[in-house]
Amino acid sequence: MSNDAQVGSEGLTLPDRGMTATLGITDPLICDRGTTAITEVKAPSIAATSVPWYVPSKPPTGTHTGNKVRMRSNTLPAETKMEVSNLNLFYGESQALHSVSLRIPEHRVTALIGPSGCGKSTFLRTLNRMNDFIPTCRVDGYASLDGRDIYGDGIDPSVLRLRVGMVFQRPNPFPFSIYDNIAYGPRMHGVRKQSELNDIVELGLREAAVWDEFKDRLHDSALGLSGGQQQRLCIARALAVHPEVLLMDEATSALDPVSTAHIEDLILRLRDHLTIVVVTHNMLQAVRISQQTAFFLMGAMVESGSTDELFSAPQDPRTADYVAGHFG
Ligand SMILES: Nc1ncnc2c1ncn2[C@@H]1O[C@H](COP(=O)(O)OP(=O)(O)OP(=O)(O)O)[C@@H](O)[C@H]1O
Ligand SMILES: [Mg+2]
Repeated sequence: MSNDAQVGSEGLTLPDRGMTATLGITDPLICDRGTTAITEVKAPSIAATSVPWYVPSKPPTGTHTGNKVRMRSNTLPAETKMEVSNLNLFYGESQALHSVSLRIPEHRVTALIGPSGCGKSTFLRTLNRMNDFIPTCRVDGYASLDGRDIYGDGIDPSVLRLRVGMVFQRPNPFPFSIYDNIAYGPRMHGVRKQSELNDIVELGLREAAVWDEFKDRLHDSALGLSGGQQQRLCIARALAVHPEVLLMDEATSALDPVSTAHIEDLILRLRDHLTIVVVTHNMLQAVRISQQTAFFLMGAMVESGSTDELFSAPQDPRTADYVAGHFG
C-alpha cells in the first residue's frame, strides 16, 4: 500500500496514477494475495468455500462449538459467525469502546443503532480490522470469525478483509466504467482472461441485483450513475470478492426512499448467503431488515437482542427512551 494512503470515514484514500480514488476497504490494493484462482468461481453462489483464496478457519473450538444464538422465539437458532467479547478500543488516550460483547449470527442481519458518536462505526471497523489503519487506535479484547481470534497470531488482515467486506455511507465508485469497477478487485488478484472477467462481472452484478439495469451500459462511467445506482455498484464490487460477512455503515443514509428500498430488498436477499451487519439511524429500517439489534450509547453496548424484542420490550430504560425517539 502506498505510504500516502489515508483512512477516513469514507474508507481508504490513496493516490492512483495521479488520480485520487477513494476506495472501500474491500479494495484489493490493501490485500497482497497473488492468486488468480477467483476464476474458479462459477456458480452464482458466494459460499466462502468456493473462493480459492479462502483460508479455512481452524476447526471451531471453545465458545463457538454449539454456540447458537437464539433469535426470535419463532425462528431457528443461528450459528455464531462472529463474536466480540469484552472489547475495549482507544484512540490515543481516549476510550471509544468500553467492554463491548456481541455475537453476530450467521445469515442474519444485525443492526447497530445509537446516537451520533456512540461508537457504531468504530465497532463496525473492529470486525474487519479497518481500525488498524488508524495509527492511534489500540484494541484489546476478543473478536472472532468462525471461532478464530481475528486479532490473534497468524491472522492476515488482508485476507480477513476479503472475508469481511465493507460498504460506506457515501457511494465511492472508482472513476472507471461500471465493468472496470467490478473487475478491479479480480484484476488486482491477477485475473487477466477476458472471458473470466466477463463471468465475474456478470456474477457480481447479478448478486447485487443490478445486472438487468447495467448490462447494456457496462462501459459507461460509473460516475454517471445516480447515487442509488452508485451505491448498488459499490455493493456489487464488494460482492465480487465473495465476502462471507458484509459490513454496511449507514449505506442508505444518503439515498432517496426508492434507492433505499432497492438496497433493503437486496440486503434481505443477500442474507441467504451472507452475514450482514448494518449501522443505521433509521429505526424503521432496523425493524424492516434486521433480526438482531444492538443499542450503543457512549461507547458501551447497552442492550442487544432480537429486533422484535428490543423494539417492543426493551429491557434497559435508555434503550426504551432511544427507540421511542426521546433522544439521539
Ligand atoms: N479516527 C479517529 N480518531 C480519534 N477519535 C475518533 C476517530 N474515529 C472516531 N473517533 C471518536 O470515537 C467516538 C465514536 O465515533 P464513531 O464514529 O464510532 O461514532 P458513530 O456512532 O459511528 O457516530 P455517527 O452516528 O455520527 O456516525 C467519537 O467520540 C469519535 O470522535
Ligand atoms: Mg458512524
